[in-house]
Amino acid sequence: MTDSLRAAEERSAAIEARIATHPADLRMLTGDRPTGALHIGHYFGSIANRLKLQAAGVEIFQLIADYQVITDREVAGDIRASVRNLLLDNLASGIDPDRATIFTHSAVPALNQLMLPFLSLVSVAELQRNPTVKEEAASAGITSINGLMLTYPVHQAADILFCKANVVPVGKDQLPHIEQTRVIARRFNERYGATFPEPGALLSEATNVLGTDGTKMSKSKGNVIELRMTADETARKIKGAKTDSDRQITYDPQNRPEVANLIKIVSMCEGTKPSQVAAEIGDGGGGGLKARLTDAVNSYFAPLRERRAELEADPGYVDEVLGRGNDRANEIADATLDDVRDKMGMTYS
Ligand code: TRP
Repeated sequence: MTDSLRAAEERSAAIEARIATHPADLRMLTGDRPTGALHIGHYFGSIANRLKLQAAGVEIFQLIADYQVITDREVAGDIRASVRNLLLDNLASGIDPDRATIFTHSAVPALNQLMLPFLSLVSVAELQRNPTVKEEAASAGITSINGLMLTYPVHQAADILFCKANVVPVGKDQLPHIEQTRVIARRFNERYGATFPEPGALLSEATNVLGTDGTKMSKSKGNVIELRMTADETARKIKGAKTDSDRQITYDPQNRPEVANLIKIVSMCEGTKPSQVAAEIGDGGGGGLKARLTDAVNSYFAPLRERRAELEADPGYVDEVLGRGNDRANEIADATLDDVRDKMGMTYS
């Protein structure tokens, strides 16, 4: 393990302890790229974590990172529909708009302007070394990285620092960006005076849920169970899931990864141990496993889906939530930018 990973894990554990004792000292920011609707992998991997923090009394900033969509694709697709889907998924999951600030990049000019001084604090070589940016470019098949793709970790620092968030719940892939944010905060503070906190990542246990074919969930592969699916759509999707020919169901992630993944999803929905789920299905085979999984997913997500349908029928309310979030984000971003300009000696009247 590298030193920086160990340090990040220690910071994460310290934050974990602070959530229990001093939740009011913490401000959390997370972001989602609006590229479609959320699936159950997102739910167990990150939404569940946000709900836990919200319940503990941590203040929540929930960014819909619309400008980040155009880092690795030329067309943003139907961005408006994707933003709405994200709003619906978050609200239906239980993110409380009276306690959380939900907002979009493009509606908060002062946040984006922070990127200018921040860019002056990092070197091109540093940007080019970021392993996550390199991986993302490679997996999107990009050979010519655009300027925003190269610099989006700096933009992400503006996302986090504009509201002085000190907790960012992320997977390990995002650690280079959190490290970049810490470096930017530190350099700004050194050069211009104490202004920003150095935020820490809150690393979640990797509840890595795979798609119905046992590979990474991805819309283009058609292996995804979306939160918004109906019970029938879910049943159909699960029917097509990959299993194996052994009728005796066992939880064996090493040798039976597809079966193990389906068992794990049952286990997360039911709160039952994977080995127990497997024992209960016994010689029921793939069919038995799929039937159990369909029931588990459909009952676990039924209340969420019901709320989602209600929200969908009330677009005025959903628009208002985003409007309110954007107003609040703007107020905070304006104040931060004023302070930044002041510290830099760029206040003229
Ligand atoms: N890059 C993140 C992702 O792809 C989304 C994101 C944008 C984000 N801004 C952020 C995450 C700030 C945490 C903090 O998932």
